[in-house]
Amino acid sequence: MRSIRKRWTICTISLLLIFYKTKEIARTEEHQETQLIGDGELYLSRSLVNSSDKIIRKAGSSIFQHNVEGWKINSSLVLEIRKNILRFLDAERDVSVVKSSFKPGDVIHYVLDRRRTLNISHNLHSLLPEVSPMKNRRFKTCAVVGNSGILLDSECGKEIDSHNFVIRCNLAPVVEFAADVGTKSDFITMNPSVVQRAFGGFRNESDREKFVHRLSMLNDSVLWIPAFMVKGGEKNVEWVNALILKNKLKVRTAYPSLRLIHAVRGYWLTNKVPIKRPSTGLLMYTLATRFCDEIHLYGFWPFPKDLSGKAVKYHYYDDLKYRYFSSASPHRMPLEFKTLNVLHNRGALKLTTGKCVKQ
Ligand SMILES: *[C@@H]1O[C@H](CO)[C@@H](O)[C@H](O)[C@H]1NC(C)=O
Ligand SMILES: *[C@@H]1O[C@H](CO)[C@@H](O)[C@H](O)[C@H]1NC(C)=O
Ligand SMILES: *[C@@H]1O[C@H](CO)[C@@H](O)[C@H](O)[C@H]1NC(C)=O
Ligand SMILES: *[C@@H]1O[C@H](CO)[C@@H](O)[C@H](O)[C@H]1NC(C)=O
Ligand SMILES: *[C@@H]1O[C@H](CO)[C@@H](O)[C@H](O)[C@H]1NC(C)=O
Repeated sequence: MRSIRKRWTICTISLLLIFYKTKEIARTEEHQETQLIGDGELYLSRSLVNSSDKIIRKAGSSIFQHNVEGWKINSSLVLEIRKNILRFLDAERDVSVVKSSFKPGDVIHYVLDRRRTLNISHNLHSLLPEVSPMKNRRFKTCAVVGNSGILLDSECGKEIDSHNFVIRCNLAPVVEFAADVGTKSDFITMNPSVVQRAFGGFRNESDREKFVHRLSMLNDSVLWIPAFMVKGGEKNVEWVNALILKNKLKVRTAYPSLRLIHAVRGYWLTNKVPIKRPSTGLLMYTLATRFCDEIHLYGFWPFPKDLSGKAVKYHYYDDLKYRYFSSASPHRMPLEFKTLNVLHNRGALKLTTGKCVKQ
C-alpha cells in the first residue's frame, strides 16, 4: 500500500516537472509564426501557457506514449472516420477550386479576412486545374510528413519514400536531409510566405533560380497553395505563377476551396477537438482520409524537447523558433497532437516520432 502511494507521488511530481519545464521553455521562445496568418495576429499576447498546458497537465505523459511496436490498423475505424469526415467535406472536391469555379477578373473575399478581397488574375486562372487533382485517386498507404526537427537522425527517409503517396508541407527542403525525410513527393503545400522566408522574396535572379529548381525537382507533384486565406501573399502567388508558366514547370497547382478550412474545423469541433485553426499537418491528415487506406504520420512533434529531454527544432531545416503553447498562435498543435496520438492508439493512423531503423 505504502509503496503504491510512493510511486504515485513520484509520478505526480515528475508530471508536474514536465509541466513546469514545458512552461518555462515556451516562455523563453520567440513567437515567429507566420504561416497562413496576418501580421495583426502576431505578438498579440505574452500570456502563454493556457489551455494546451491544461491538457498536458491533465493527460500527463500519456500524451507522449504511443506504442509503435504493436501497432495495427483498424480498417473499420478508418472507414468510419472517412465516412464522418465526408459529412463535412469531400477532399476530392475541396482540395482545390477548378477552372470553372471562377473566371479571370472575379473578385473573391479572403476566407479568414472577409473584408479584404482578391482579384482572380489571368495567370492564376490559367493555373487552376480542370478537374480535382485527387479525382479517383486511391492509395494503399500514404505518408504525411510534418516538418518538426524530430525527423533529424530518425533515418526515416527510406520508409517515407516507400509509401504509395507522399504528402509534404510548405515546400520543405529534402535533398540535404534525404536520409531522415526521404525525397519522394506527390503532394506538397506552399504557404505564400515561403517566398520571403526561403527564397529572399525573389529579389534577385539566383533566388528565382533556386525556386524554379526546387519546383522542377517535384516533377508533376501537386503544389497546393493556400492563396485565399488571408490578404498579404497575393504578390508572392503572382510571382510564383509567373515563374511556373515562364519555365513550363510540370507541377500541378491546386488552390484549396474557400470552404475547406471551415469544414475541417467543423469536423474536429464536432469531435470535441476545440482547435482554433487547423495546422497544415492536420489539414493534410484530414484530406488524406478520403484517398488513403493507411495513413502514416512523420515529423509531427509540437514540443521543444523530446522524451529524453533533448532539444527539438521547430523545423528540421531552419532555425525558426515557435511557441507551441502561445495563446496568440492561430494553431493549437499540442492539442492536435494529443488527438492524433489517440487515433494512433486506436489504429486509425500510425504516428512515428522515433527512429525508423531499429538498432
Ligand atoms: C485561458 O483560457 C480561458 C478559456 O479557455 C480563457 O477564458 C482565458 O482568458 C485564457 N487566459 C489567458 C491568459 O489567455
Ligand atoms: C475497430 O474499431 C471499431 C470501430 O470504432 C471498434 O468497434 C472495434 O472494436 C475496433 N477493433 C479493434 C480490434 O480494436
Ligand atoms: C481586378 O482586375 C481587373 C482587371 O485586371 C481590374 O479592372 C479591376 O479593377 C480589379 N479589381 C480590383 C478590386 O482590384
Ligand atoms: C522526379 O522524377 C525523377 C525521375 O523519375 C525521380 O527520380 C524523382 O524521385 C522524382 N521526384 C520526386 C519529388 O518524386
Ligand atoms: C541574392 O539574394 C540573396 C538573399 O536573398 C543573397 O544571399 C545572394 O547573395 C544574392 N545573390 C546575388 C547574385 O546577388
